[in-house]
Amino acid sequence: MAADLIAPSILSADFAKLGEEVDSVLAAGADIVHFDVMDNHYVPNLTIGPLVCEALRKHGVTAPIDVHLMVKPVDRIVPDFAKAGATYITFHPEASEHIDRTLQLIRNEGCKAGLVFNPATPLSVLDYVLDKCDMILLMSVNPGFGGQSFIPSALDKLRQVRKLIDASGLDIRLEVDGGVKADNIAQIKAAGADTFVSGSGIFGYGKAGDPNRYDSIIAEMRRALAGAGG
Ligand code: DX5
Ligand code: ZN
Repeated sequence: MAADLIAPSILSADFAKLGEEVDSVLAAGADIVHFDVMDNHYVPNLTIGPLVCEALRKHGVTAPIDVHLMVKPVDRIVPDFAKAGATYITFHPEASEHIDRTLQLIRNEGCKAGLVFNPATPLSVLDYVLDKCDMILLMSVNPGFGGQSFIPSALDKLRQVRKLIDASGLDIRLEVDGGVKADNIAQIKAAGADTFVSGSGIFGYGKAGDPNRYDSIIAEMRRALAGAGG
């Protein structure tokens, strides 16, 4: 199985010092930066766009940036994120009129493409577009906000998608997003995930101002992952 990747969601970072926050989690051993884009239309919240992605690149962030689009429509904004330095761009199938076209657009723009499934969204579209996906992201909360609790049915869904990916022989990451913490990450890995988004679980950990808190929490997650079956 692919190496485990820890992806802090900057939604829970201190936006007044975002560059520093991203530097700190990466220095603490995080692998990729999870970047939540919300439009107050597809989801009832409003966050950040391509300008902020570009600013992180200009700041010197070289780690992969994993752009999770919770926007509708999708296609108009894809080239902007590619230009801004996105590595992955994932979107919700409900938000695109032409899923196959959007996946191709993302790859044509030079990024890795992925689909995101809400807790109640069926996986059936994967029957037709698995070969156009570099990542499948399963939401373990309803999208829109950080700090919600992990929905346990995501574990069965993870097992299902893990089987699909393995049977396909394709190189596709299986990411999980929502309510991931040090105390459930092992269980989530055992169900088949290899990429772990955590917002409040990382940025909300410990006492703000403690320079070692991200090292401690990421080390704790790594220990839990190392001890997990999967
Ligand atoms: C929710 C976002 C998540 C969010 C996760 O719509 O997609 O990435 O930041 O936050 P936690 O880890 O706090 O559940
Ligand atoms: Zn996300």
